Amino acid sequence: MNLVLFYLCNMKKTGLLSLVSITVYLLVAFSAPPKVLSKAKLGEQLFHEKILSKDSSISCASCHIPEYGFSDTVAFSMGIYGRPTTRNTPPVLNMKNRPYFFWDGRAGSLEQQSLMPIAHPDEMGLPIKEAVARLNQSKVYRELFLRTFGAVPNANNLAVAFAAFEKTLETDSSRFDLSFDDSTQMTEQEERGRKLFISEKTKCFDCHRMQDFTTDEFLNIGLYDGKGLNDPGRYKVTGKKEDLGKFKTPGLRNVAVTGPYMHNGMFKTLEEVVEYYNNTGAFVLNPINMDNRVAVPLGLTRQEKADLVAFLKSLTDKRFEHLLK
Ligand code: HEC
Ligand code: HEC
Repeated sequence: MNLVLFYLCNMKKTGLLSLVSITVYLLVAFSAPPKVLSKAKLGEQLFHEKILSKDSSISCASCHIPEYGFSDTVAFSMGIYGRPTTRNTPPVLNMKNRPYFFWDGRAGSLEQQSLMPIAHPDEMGLPIKEAVARLNQSKVYRELFLRTFGAVPNANNLAVAFAAFEKTLETDSSRFDLSFDDSTQMTEQEERGRKLFISEKTKCFDCHRMQDFTTDEFLNIGLYDGKGLNDPGRYKVTGKKEDLGKFKTPGLRNVAVTGPYMHNGMFKTLEEVVEYYNNTGAFVLNPINMDNRVAVPLGLTRQEKADLVAFLKSLTDKRFEHLLK
């Protein structure tokens, strides 16, 4: 390697450069740190680790597919033994500032959340004790945990590693973000959509506000009627009648690449979502406990609907833009 470098440098006939290159190479070679993964890197490896599921067939990444904005492309994902999940898989992006996790908010931290899918019978179906035992049986993982945490794998450091990785999955380079410094980033149509989104007419901004386009509130947009639509949402956690049909307001960053939409994946496209908000009553006849703000038809024109969708697409981070059609 040294020789190759030396040869290459001589070919360029820049004596000083070759000396510098060799010095840099030697410095790097001798000061290379021992193999210690950061907590986040270890978490990333575990996120793709199938031995954490009962039959070693499923990892977190099987449902939270990194290439698709860390969400799935179908309404319900497949857990072990082909068991479908009962709710739509949300993207694991921009989770750092969320106070609650899951559609009903039953987890209060990423650390607490991350062990739940491992044990969940429809997801990975492996008791945590067994998951920890498997990691300890693996020479590689024992060593990695020892180096990273100074301790062998246990439920606590496993959860910390997952959370550390998830906290790195923040996105802030959509054209919408870039438009703050460079107004040419957004098209005229997207700009019209933005104005509609924050308008009194649509009220989208009432609930999809703040940095990640969510107030993190539990709200009911009319997708619960106790019959065909029977997921009671937040009610499952609190047992309070006023929480019937309420779900965690999802953030909207990268939303164009994370369909299908809603807790039950009932809408395939953003066009369908906007159609729903435009006249919720046309979709669900007798919703229970619905928020007043989405009860009145919006009367959007075709152009306005298209503008709203265009705005939602402008919230796509650069790294996922190639997925937009
Ligand atoms: C079989 C598919 C599947 C697997 C495997 C899976 N998840 Fe999920 N994940 C889901 C579904 C479905 C939900 C929503 C469930 C709910 O709200 O009740 C979810 C929710 C989440 C959330 C909450 C997101 C939010 O917006 O509140 C996080 C974070 C998460 N999963 C991380 C993980 C991690 C970490 C793993 C691996 C240890 C994992 N998931 C494995 C399907 C899966
Ligand atoms: C009253 C609060 C409220 C208003 C107003 C509102 N939303 Fe929502 N939005 C929610 C909640 C809550 C959900 C999740 C509902 C569910 O899954 O049952 C949601 C879901 C969505 C989703 C699906 C996201 C996903 O990842 O599945 C999109 C897209 C969306 N809203 C866009 C909009 C647009 C565009 C408007 C304005 C036309 C709007 N919202 C108005 C509260 C609101």
